[in-house]
Amino acid sequence: MKHLALGGGTPVRVDPFPNWPVYGKEEEEALSRVLRSGQWGTLGPEASAFEKEFAEYLGTSGALCVANGTVSLETALRALDIGPGDEVIIPAYTFIATLTSVLITGALPVFSDIDPKTNTLDPEGVRQIITHRTKAVILVHMAGIPADMDAFAAIASKHGILIIEDAAQAHGSEWKRKKAGTLGSCGSFSFQATKNMSAGEGGAIVSARRDLLEQCWSIHHTGRSREGAWYEHVRLGTNYRITDWQAAVLRCQLSRLDEQIRTREGNAEKLIYLLKDIEGIDPLVPDHRVTRNTWHLFMFRYDAAAFSGVPKGRFVRALEAEGIPAFSGYTPLYSQAMLGHSSVLRAVPDLAGKSFRKLPATEKACRETVWFPQYLLLGTDKGIEDIASAVEKIQRHSGELAAVEDSV
Ligand SMILES: Cc1ncc(COP(=O)(O)O)c(C=O)c1O
Repeated sequence: MKHLALGGGTPVRVDPFPNWPVYGKEEEEALSRVLRSGQWGTLGPEASAFEKEFAEYLGTSGALCVANGTVSLETALRALDIGPGDEVIIPAYTFIATLTSVLITGALPVFSDIDPKTNTLDPEGVRQIITHRTKAVILVHMAGIPADMDAFAAIASKHGILIIEDAAQAHGSEWKRKKAGTLGSCGSFSFQATKNMSAGEGGAIVSARRDLLEQCWSIHHTGRSREGAWYEHVRLGTNYRITDWQAAVLRCQLSRLDEQIRTREGNAEKLIYLLKDIEGIDPLVPDHRVTRNTWHLFMFRYDAAAFSGVPKGRFVRALEAEGIPAFSGYTPLYSQAMLGHSSVLRAVPDLAGKSFRKLPATEKACRETVWFPQYLLLGTDKGIEDIASAVEKIQRHSGELAAVEDSV
């Protein structure tokens, strides 16, 4: 008899998980407000109100909205005057934007390994590869878990390098009660469709450095200056502006953020408890210095040996068949074919002939880490119990799964 849903059995869950994005009357009213205002685009009142509210929420002095979380990184790097001849240390376990933003400036990305306990950059590895050309480190607060900000603050001050926080997945996360994105020279956020605050697309740069945000403002606004004429462009910029539609929605999303984080934190705790006795499943739980985790993703290690040798991809498909959305996550960025393309090599000649060494913790994380998306943690106790039951069921019948063809 087939037990697993992937093999034709009955799924653990047929009810849907909560919808994402969450929206209400507030968003409808906000969008009507923008419609009636006639100020739909460039630097409107909703964008400036959201910038103020977001900066206040994070406990920093300034924010600038941009089109998305990819160009926010690029804008920040360019404003920090990072370019050809500079090296920027980044993790290889992250979204492609962390890499492409560096490449677009002409600087050389240098990959460093991650801490297997959090899948964020390992400070020790970074220390070992700093050279006189190292200008910055981009820390990715993976899944909402801030990187080790104490260690990186010490590295930054000792070596005089900049810390850029890629907080695309960490709206509201905290390191020792300080918000992610406010601990380095600047922080970069994404409001893309799956993120914990969403306007479909959107991004923001936050910083306590006014001069830096002014540079970013100019770059994202076609190189204009505040005092200059409309058709006067004082530096190389481009159009990376957000619209007021997006900003108006983000103001509503921000008002729900804390409550949603509290719900996710409570549900994550329950899920950790329910998964803890399942052999081969090991949730990634940050230490006590992370005083708040937004749980953009619930990451756990999957040990195929405890599941009759079933590869991770098939385990993820089995979870989905049981009615539990899950993802296999990233592959190492240094393996991306784009790194060898001629346009990239022309933009970053330092890359020519460079073969990136494999980073063991990154390789292992890509092999073993599974993600549950954040909206699963916005549901009820029953949803959390179903997730754990599905994992436990798959393990109990992993022999059956091992016999399934890989194409299934
Ligand atoms: C870690 C990280 N950095 C950057 C980005 C880029 O953000 P966006 O999709 O808004 O361009 C994302 C999100 O997709 C991300 O997860």
